[in-house]
Amino acid sequence: MSDYTPTPEDRFSFGIWTVGWQGVDVFGPGTRPPMPADRAVRKLAEIGAYGVNFHDNDVFDFDASPGERQERIGAFRKALDETGLVVTTATTNLFGHPVFKDGAFTANDRDVRRFALRKVMDNLDLAAELGAKTYVCWGGREGAESGAAKDVRAALDRYKEAFDVLGAYVADQGYDLRFAIEPKPNEPRGDILLPTIGHALAFIQTLESPDNVGLNPEVGHEEMAGLNYAHGLAQALWQGKLFHIDLNGQHGPRYDQDLRFGAGNARGAFWVVDLIENSDYSGPVHFDFKPPRTEDDEGVWESAAACMRNWLILREKVRAFRADPDVQDALRQAKVEELAQPTLAEGEDWRAVRAATADAEALGARRTAFELLDQLALEHLYGVRS
Ligand code: GCO
Ligand code: MN
Ligand code: MN
Repeated sequence: MSDYTPTPEDRFSFGIWTVGWQGVDVFGPGTRPPMPADRAVRKLAEIGAYGVNFHDNDVFDFDASPGERQERIGAFRKALDETGLVVTTATTNLFGHPVFKDGAFTANDRDVRRFALRKVMDNLDLAAELGAKTYVCWGGREGAESGAAKDVRAALDRYKEAFDVLGAYVADQGYDLRFAIEPKPNEPRGDILLPTIGHALAFIQTLESPDNVGLNPEVGHEEMAGLNYAHGLAQALWQGKLFHIDLNGQHGPRYDQDLRFGAGNARGAFWVVDLIENSDYSGPVHFDFKPPRTEDDEGVWESAAACMRNWLILREKVRAFRADPDVQDALRQAKVEELAQPTLAEGEDWRAVRAATADAEALGARRTAFELLDQLALEHLYGVRS
């Protein structure tokens, strides 16, 4: 059996809040004690992670005094320095405190919106100082439960305004940071704005500096909407917008499960690894999962290590799949490479296509071999081919 030990080249990273999740849910309090960010950093380094992502309030409390804030940041930084873990990414908690109950950038209350922008700017300073290159924006509270309370078009104006203001801030400060919007269809709001990859891609085109804004798609969020995550990633890559990924597991359209990567839709995970490994994506391989509240501290680290291990297991499988001569033959039969060939030949225009004739019956009868190909993929996944 292969050695599935993570290496820094794998660029595995974790949100501090993932392993730090105490297990609070809507039906009960936490089952685990709080975990200071510096402990999360040290333990993540021990299990082989390369980097971390953090919310401001993963490091210091919302109501921390300036002194407490400095002390907590100091401990976090010390743990980073001592372990060599890299801060790849940062983000803002714009969802926990009651001030954000109606959202942050799109709250009806203008004072809340101004407060939210200030909170993000404060943490952009820290993100830049700690060397983060990506700034994630998950608008979990930007949305509504009812119809009349939210003017969605006005909310989108304010959403755009927020990204324009923050983009100007980053440019004026000379920070080397790009924003990555994380879509989600619902939870905690009944309906969240920018619910899918597609909505977010279209929104980005309306911004003043669209080049500095991309996506951070999450497995579970697209699957909650019944969508194919790997296809969404492929479109984001095609549009040059895949700045970051949030990997986890989900069992179809239900509440946001945030299972460890590789659990849930295992077949979907296979295609995600295949896509990313065969792309020019260069961001961190980032896990945003929640160790179930059944787990104790030991279970938390088992669950986190399993995210990386499952990536490495699936990477071995997709490599074996691509190298398999039977697969290569099935790919040829399925004409997968032919799709890369433009429909019109060099120098042709619509006239040539218009003038051509075809035997539709014969074309319709041609073999696709898609089932053969997919079965080979499943057999690699099921472990009967290697
Ligand atoms: C979720 C989200 C969050 C965000 C994170 C960054 O589970 O709905 O993934 O975990 O990614 O909070 O702000
Ligand atoms: Mn996420
Ligand atoms: Mn999630």
